[in-house]
Amino acid sequence: MDPQLKENGDVSHDDDNNHVYKKLKLSPYISDSEILEEFSHHEPGVARINNGSFGSCPASIIAAQKQWQFRFLQQPDDFYFNQLKKGILESRTLIKDLINADDVEEVSIVDNATTAVAIVLQQICWAFIEGRFQRGDAVVMLHYAYGAVKKSIQAYVSRAGACVIEVQLPFPVRSNEEIIVEFRKALEKGKSNGRKVRFAVIDHITSMPSVVIPVKELVKICRDEGVDQVLVDAAHSIGSVEVDVKDIGADFYTSNLHKWLFCPPSVAFLYCRKSSTFSDLHHPVVSHEYGNGLAVESAWIGTRDYSSQLVVPSVLDFFNRFEGGIEGVRKRNHDAVIKMGEMLAKAWGTHLGSPADMCPSMVMVGLPAILGISGEEDTLKLRAHLRNNFGIEVPIYYRTPKEDETKSRDKNDCITGYARISHQIYNREDEYYKFRDAINQLVRNGFTCKILLPN
Ligand SMILES: Cc1ncc(COP(=O)(O)O)c(C=O)c1O
Repeated sequence: MDPQLKENGDVSHDDDNNHVYKKLKLSPYISDSEILEEFSHHEPGVARINNGSFGSCPASIIAAQKQWQFRFLQQPDDFYFNQLKKGILESRTLIKDLINADDVEEVSIVDNATTAVAIVLQQICWAFIEGRFQRGDAVVMLHYAYGAVKKSIQAYVSRAGACVIEVQLPFPVRSNEEIIVEFRKALEKGKSNGRKVRFAVIDHITSMPSVVIPVKELVKICRDEGVDQVLVDAAHSIGSVEVDVKDIGADFYTSNLHKWLFCPPSVAFLYCRKSSTFSDLHHPVVSHEYGNGLAVESAWIGTRDYSSQLVVPSVLDFFNRFEGGIEGVRKRNHDAVIKMGEMLAKAWGTHLGSPADMCPSMVMVGLPAILGISGEEDTLKLRAHLRNNFGIEVPIYYRTPKEDETKSRDKNDCITGYARISHQIYNREDEYYKFRDAINQLVRNGFTCKILLPN
C-alpha cells in the first residue's frame, strides 16, 4: 500500500467492508485517462488525424448539450421566453471577451462559417444592386479560398456585377513576405483601369493547403489601398491560433467554434465591427426578429435546435481543466503537430509545406512522389484507400506542378501530394506512426494511384 495514499486518507469501502485505497489525483488538471474517456465515442481503430475538417466534441460537452435540448423539450414556451435569449447572450459575451471585441453587439452567433460569409456577401450584393458599388468594381480573394466561399462570391457578388480577382499564392510557401507580395500584385490588378476594390475576403488559415496567412498585415494593406470592406474567413482559427479582432482590424471576422473549440456541430461567431454598414447586415433566414440587429436576428431563425450555441460556457470550463487553458491547448497541439509532421517528412524523404510558424494545429506534409498523385481525383481515391484499408482518416491535397518541374526534374522528386495532418488533444503519437507505416508499405509494394478505381 502506498503510505502517501494512506496518509491522505483517500479511503472507501468495498461490498465486504474492506478498505479500498483510491488512486490519488495529484494534478489539478485533466488526466490522460480522463481525456480518453471524453473521446471514447470516437470509432475505435481509426487514426483520426483530421480534426481540421469537422472538429471534435468531448463527452462532457455532449452531455451539456443534451441538457439544453431537454430543457427545450421539457417546457418549450418557458425555454423560448425565459432561457434562450439569455443563454445566447451569455455565449456572445464570452466570445466577445475571447476575441477582444469592444461590444457584444458586434458578435453574432450563427450556424457555421458558410452562413457568416453569406451574411456579409449578401450585404455586398445589395451594395452593387443598389448602386453604392459600380458594376465592374473589383473584389479580391485568395486563390486558396475555401471552395464554398468561392462559390458564394460567384453566387452573391460576381452575379451582382463585381470583377473577381484571385491572389495567386505560392505553395510550398516559405515566408509571409511571399504572400504579401502576391497580395499587393492582386490589389494593383484590382485597381487597374481606374477600378475600385470594394471588398476583400482573406483567410486567416487557409483550408487546403493549410497555411496561417499574415492577416493583420494584409488587412493593413487593404486599409492603405482604400479597400472598402474586409472579411476575414477564419473558419479554423479560434482554439488553434490567437484571435484579437481589434488588432487584426477587419470589418468582419468569422470562426467556427465546432472545429477547434470543442463545440458540438454546428456553431460559429461572426464579428462585425460597428460601421456605417452595420445596420445593413441581415441573416439570410428572415424571422420576426428582422430589423432588430444582426445578433438578435441570428439568435432566432425559427424553431430549431439552438443547443450548440448554448454550450459555450461549458466549453470554456472544459478548457480550464487544461494547464494554460485555451492557450496551453493551442501551444501543445501546435508543437505536437510540428513534431509529427517533421517525423513523417523525414521518414518519407519529403518536406513540410510551410515553416512551423506558418502552421496552426495542422501541417502539410509532402507525400512520396512515387505514389503518383496526379489530380484531385487521386487525392480522394487515396484518402478513401487509407480509410478503408488502413483505418486512417487524413485529407490530401494535390499541387499542380510547375511546367519546369515536370520537364527538368526526376519525376520522383516532384511532390504533388501533401497530407494535411491535424493534432487535437485526443491524438496519440502511434496514430501518426500508423500513417507513416501505411505510406511506407504502399511505397514498398510499388503502389501508385493509377491502380485505384474511382470512388
Ligand atoms: C477556410 C474555410 N472557410 C469556410 C469553411 C466552411 O466551414 P463550415 O462548413 O463549418 O461552414 C471551412 C471549412 O472547413 C474552411 O476551412
